[in-house]
Amino acid sequence: MTNEYLIFFAAIIYTLLPAYLANMAPVLAQKLEVLPFLKKPIDGGHQLNGKDILGPGKTWRGLVVGVFVSTAVVFLQSIFQYFHFLEEIRLIDYFSLNWLLFGILAGLGALGGDIAKSFAKRRININSGDAWPVFDQLDFVLGFFLLTYTQVQWTEVIFWPALIITLAGHPITNIIGYYFKIKKVWW
Ligand code: CTP
Ligand code: MG
Repeated sequence: MTNEYLIFFAAIIYTLLPAYLANMAPVLAQKLEVLPFLKKPIDGGHQLNGKDILGPGKTWRGLVVGVFVSTAVVFLQSIFQYFHFLEEIRLIDYFSLNWLLFGILAGLGALGGDIAKSFAKRRININSGDAWPVFDQLDFVLGFFLLTYTQVQWTEVIFWPALIITLAGHPITNIIGYYFKIKKVWW
């Protein structure tokens, strides 16, 4: 019984892995200073009614590396399925999907969710980098589900546990990132 829960938990993480790693990629890219020519704000530094449209935290580099990482992860997941690797925790049939399209949509969804959230944060006067609890944690997962829904008809049995696991797991990964000085703030 306990084992079944553990497998389900691992399966949710495995399914969301393209989104999780896409969401971490911009922070790592910033830390490692990769693709410096893409380190330009998506909003071009423009404002809307005296407030940043998105703010300096949303760059083209983050978007590009995020989509690249999610696509690479989905590619690997398809390869793993071919070799029957990690079959116990696989929830979706990667062969029935176009891995390239699914990977790109997963990354665009994750990073797009994050961008949409920043847009909303600026409108309600939350400064770039300041916390907006729950929305900061779930933005990328919601974006992932929304855009990939065109490829996989996600059910509530996956959706709600995914949100809860992400909410619960987020502080842990952030604190690890902060500890290793990858992230500037612990949230
Ligand atoms: N990042 C990026 N491009 C993106 C998303 C994130 O370059 N599209 C990088 C930025 O260096 C950013 C960091 O990842 O500072 C952390 O991302 P996030 O917490 O989403 O952004 P914040 O800086 O906190 O900005 P906001 O308040 O708008 O969420
Ligand atoms: Mg932030």
